[in-house]
Amino acid sequence: MKQLVRENILEIEPYPPGKPIKEVERELGIKEAVKMASNENPLGPSPKALEAMRQAISDTNLYPDGSAYYLKRALAEHLNVGEENIILGNGSDEIIRMIVETFLNEDEEAVIAQPAFIIYQIAVKVMNGKCRIVNLRNFTHDLVAMGKAVNDKTKLVFIANPNNPTGTMVSDEEVGTFMNKISDEVIVVFDEAYYEYIIRDDFPQTINYVRQGRNVITLRTFSKIYGLAGLRIGYGVAREDLIRDMNRVRQPFNTNCLAQVAALAALKDKEHIERSSSINREGKDFIYEELDKLKISYVPSEANFILIDLKQDGKAISQKLMQEGIIVRPMGMYGLPDFIRVTIGTIQQNEKFIKALEEAI
Ligand SMILES: Cc1ncc(COP(=O)(O)O)c(C=O)c1O
Repeated sequence: MKQLVRENILEIEPYPPGKPIKEVERELGIKEAVKMASNENPLGPSPKALEAMRQAISDTNLYPDGSAYYLKRALAEHLNVGEENIILGNGSDEIIRMIVETFLNEDEEAVIAQPAFIIYQIAVKVMNGKCRIVNLRNFTHDLVAMGKAVNDKTKLVFIANPNNPTGTMVSDEEVGTFMNKISDEVIVVFDEAYYEYIIRDDFPQTINYVRQGRNVITLRTFSKIYGLAGLRIGYGVAREDLIRDMNRVRQPFNTNCLAQVAALAALKDKEHIERSSSINREGKDFIYEELDKLKISYVPSEANFILIDLKQDGKAISQKLMQEGIIVRPMGMYGLPDFIRVTIGTIQQNEKFIKALEEAI
């Protein structure tokens, strides 16, 4: 029979979904399993977002506002950019797809670090583009090497800052040097999903490049500190013409009505954001301290997760942790078979994780 699937699609490994938490509990006969695998906010959504959704739920017979008018207006004010500089997506995942669909021709290349967020490579392969892979250096994006990897065929560069799964960041100065050299025929995507967790003051303010009219797209999301991962909503900030081009491929109703109202409320809930950030800082210090005591190495993180070097099979340890009701992410699919990535949780979750880890190793 004739092969129906496009050849390039066969190169893509489907993204492996985790099992539903209830199913894990049922299979293992455990209660109150804790998911520390997907870098979600352990405090849950902002109470204000929950209330906004309650009020909006009876309107779900209507299509959502395809322009996301109110949310875009609030984001424009929050970021001090124009509404025409913003695009919303069904998670920033969808915006990554839209970027590649809009800008990458079949024979063009995207420069991507490895290991970095896996969705960039999938999006590029779907469009039959080529990924030019540049290894991390000291677990961090090597912007010098990435700059050198840019050639006549390069259209996109993806920089996850901080990076997932390592939690490391590139500084203002490193990004500045990179941006000074980059060709103006290349679009640089700064994926800042964990932006709100950053406390270092040398983090680059990449939206300034947008204001300067550079070929830059900055991505952020409501899935992490805002605690709305299940609603799927994120945004991109770029020059007006780039946004206009991306809107040509955007599905008309790509963000749903509950996500829009929840995001609007969450954006304004400063208290929830501050609490989430502070519990993350405390949790991080606690986990570092305990790992130090156990003589386990880890990569210091700017985000809400920690990459841990177990120096033994990460998958086997993950399975043992799962028996104790702790779900973490083994890192084999990122080419780091001896590592796990754990999301920083509440105090109780972090304690439970450390206790289980100590027993598992
Ligand atoms: C670096 C990075 N970018 C993007 C995303 C996707 O976020 P969203 O839920 O907005 O699609 C993630 C999620 O884990 C991430 O780690």
